[in-house]
Amino acid sequence: MRQIFPAGAPNEIANVTRGETGQAAESAIAALGQLYAYPAPASPAPVPWVRANMIASADGASTLNGRSGDMSGPADRLVFSVLRSVADVILAGAGTARAEKYRPVRPGEVWPQLRDGRTRTPPIAVVTTKLGLDLNSPLLAGAPPAARTIVLTTEQCPQERRAAAAAHADVAVVGTDRVTPAAMIDALAARGLRRILVEGGPNLLGQITAAGLLNELCLTYSPVLEGGRARRILTPPFEASAGPERHEGAAGWPPVELTLAHVLEDSGLLLCRYLAASQAPG
Ligand SMILES: NC(=O)c1ccc[n+]([C@@H]2O[C@H](COP(=O)([O-])OP(=O)(O)OC[C@H]3O[C@@H](n4cnc5c(N)ncnc54)[C@H](OP(=O)(O)O)[C@@H]3O)[C@@H](O)[C@H]2O)c1
Repeated sequence: MRQIFPAGAPNEIANVTRGETGQAAESAIAALGQLYAYPAPASPAPVPWVRANMIASADGASTLNGRSGDMSGPADRLVFSVLRSVADVILAGAGTARAEKYRPVRPGEVWPQLRDGRTRTPPIAVVTTKLGLDLNSPLLAGAPPAARTIVLTTEQCPQERRAAAAAHADVAVVGTDRVTPAAMIDALAARGLRRILVEGGPNLLGQITAAGLLNELCLTYSPVLEGGRARRILTPPFEASAGPERHEGAAGWPPVELTLAHVLEDSGLLLCRYLAASQAPG
């Protein structure tokens, strides 16, 4: 892996090669941990920082053969693990949890040296209107007590499903018909989880972006053309998608300017990190 923008990157990143172990990998993980460190929390009132991590084909598709994993590669999987390691919590829509068979993060999937005094693994937070997930799945019933899965749901969710899920998960009713992006972030921040990693999908990311709550986007471009059948990495939020008159720049869906922070390259994969322009230094 090499950093191609900005130039003059730490040499340690070049030490990351497929299957490499030992001292070189240790220094590479430290370098990646620094590269992807969340901003230091403001004192005395730390505010959440919302980072999304997505992968797209060169023609902008969010899935290949129905899943995102087919577009990935070793470098993307490594950065995926680093991003999870530096996060307090992983936030995903129920659609992603179902499609990608989400389960709790295992200790071997994160880098302990990047967990700096936090729980051994970050919890997963899943947002769902009615808890349409398998209540006996590892995601809901198999998380460790220190990192219980957080379910952000609504009053539409039947009481008995909430109660059943609450046997193992942390269930929070934080919306009437839907959970607003602000309510999602607030519910996590109230639990002391401010370094937020959104792993999609396009539906959830569209809502968070349209609400102006996205601080940062880590986007891997995979060297493949999907062909236009799949959705893009963001879909318009519910309100903005109604009506044939919707167009670019319509109310509720203004373009969000981004500033490129860095680009890594490995085996043709481009790992880009963007800041929402309002967050970028200078
Ligand atoms: N390319 C990538 O990096 C990437 C990343 C992630 C996922 N994906 C792909 O994207 C697809 C899944 O994404 P998606 O956009 O269909 O779904 P999604 O955003 O993961 O989840 C949508 C679901 O989340 C719940 N939800 C979303 N917003 C909500 C709100 N405001 N309040 C309450 N519940 C809310 C609803 O679940 P309920 O139906 O349970 O109410 C909704 O159906 C899969 O094919 C996956 O493979 C790609």
